[in-house]
Amino acid sequence: TQPSILSGKKIVVTAGPTREKIDPVRYITNHSSGKMGYAIAEEAARFGAEVVLISGPVSLQVPKGVRFISVESAEDMFNAVMGEYSSTDIVIKTAAVADYRPKIAYDDKVKKKDGAEVLELERTKDILQQLGNEKKDQILIGFAAETNRVEEYARAKLKKKNADMIVANNVKEPGAGFATDTNIVTIYKKDGSSLELPILSKQEVARRILVEAAKILEVATKD
Ligand code: PMT
Repeated sequence: TQPSILSGKKIVVTAGPTREKIDPVRYITNHSSGKMGYAIAEEAARFGAEVVLISGPVSLQVPKGVRFISVESAEDMFNAVMGEYSSTDIVIKTAAVADYRPKIAYDDKVKKKDGAEVLELERTKDILQQLGNEKKDQILIGFAAETNRVEEYARAKLKKKNADMIVANNVKEPGAGFATDTNIVTIYKKDGSSLELPILSKQEVARRILVEAAKILEVATKD
């Protein structure tokens, strides 16, 4: 049996990739399978939380006892997350959100021509940044998917996004990152401390993250 360390708390988890439309047959996406985010949603429900899972397109089953919101683009995810934010205790942003989208999404299929084609991209909204800017007493947990200088980039994200925790993974490391059943993460916290975890199942990584979040909530409640 699981301890109900998150009972009475509302947790929003984002998971999966986003899809940014080029035309009706093409899109830009990434390798996220949703496994990490779905594991967090499942474990949070086991810990007694009210869980909202906001997910891009993946082929996983929605965990039991979780409210599910299906989204496609970064813009859809932004709207869904912001709609839940004010009533939420903890937000965990596991999703691999596109940083850029095509400037124009064509209504009809773009026909091929001779020679090279250039696709113009524009920035999407940074959801984590917006959450950080609008934060009241929510606990904000971001991820950092890096391939080099992991600690430096993770600590920079922690500060810039006004997050309470950043869960960093080196997606080039075997057994870590996209689509695997395991992950290798270091959790960077706002107080400057960090927690380096060995290779663990995504389920176990999820539990560790949630235990750390529960500790922050506990301290906040005592204040
Ligand atoms: O889904 P899996 O196959 O299990 O893979 C897990 C994972 C590799 C996707 C996961 O462990 C992970 O690292 N997720 C974050 C992926 C990512 O987009 O990282 P980033 O460093 O580019 O973004 C940093 C943070 O900002 C993330 O919390 C992201 O959700 C958020 N973000 C990014 C862009 C954007 N426009 N809005 C955001 O909120």
